[in-house]
Amino acid sequence: MTTQPLPTRLVTDSAFTLSQFMQPEHSNSQGRVHGGVVLKLCDECGGIVAARHARRPVVTVTVDSVTFHRPIELGSLLLIHGRITYVGTTSLEVELRVEAENLLTGEIIHTNSAYFVYVALDDMRRPTPVPTLELQTDEERHRFEQGRARQAARLARAQA
Ligand SMILES: CC(C)(COP(=O)(O)OP(=O)(O)OC[C@H]1O[C@@H](n2cnc3c(N)ncnc32)[C@H](O)[C@@H]1OP(=O)(O)O)[C@@H](O)C(=O)NCCC(=O)NCCS
Repeated sequence: MTTQPLPTRLVTDSAFTLSQFMQPEHSNSQGRVHGGVVLKLCDECGGIVAARHARRPVVTVTVDSVTFHRPIELGSLLLIHGRITYVGTTSLEVELRVEAENLLTGEIIHTNSAYFVYVALDDMRRPTPVPTLELQTDEERHRFEQGRARQAARLARAQA
């Protein structure tokens, strides 16, 4: 059986924004958006970005620390921007930037950012190589190197 060479993809090929109107069902006990809802939507957005890059099923292997800078009010439009920052052999790091838009004033606040790491799976649900990332700008190259350093730190922590 011949194996096809893996294609190369751009950051923009998989970048994606997930939007969700924050309703009462998304509330915590204080009447604001529940942090778990935000994390679930981040994982959904990151999973879409990773699967778009890999064109394979992906699973989340780890999540970097998440800090909520600002509370999110019900009635906001949540915008989660996801883009690939780093790819290893079978793993991919996705940066998630969360913003909340006040629909009445148009104000957009940055509420949190996080890095989620995914692993692509083959048909036997084993890790499988992902396409390489073609870096087009100095910013993308810088982010990639930062992602490489974060991934090395994660693996060192996992082995400690
Ligand atoms: C993710 C999973 C398939 C990895 O399996 P594994 O046997 O550890 O596979 P490997 O050791 O070959 O590692 C695969 C990749 O994950 C990376 N990885 C493994 N552990 C990691 C960690 N703690 N942090 C970051 N990356 C990690 C490896 O570096 C490797 O990446 P690379 O190929 O780019 O170098 C397996 O741990 C799993 O199925 N976990 C459950 C996933 C899940 O259920 N997620 C929640 C629902 S989606």
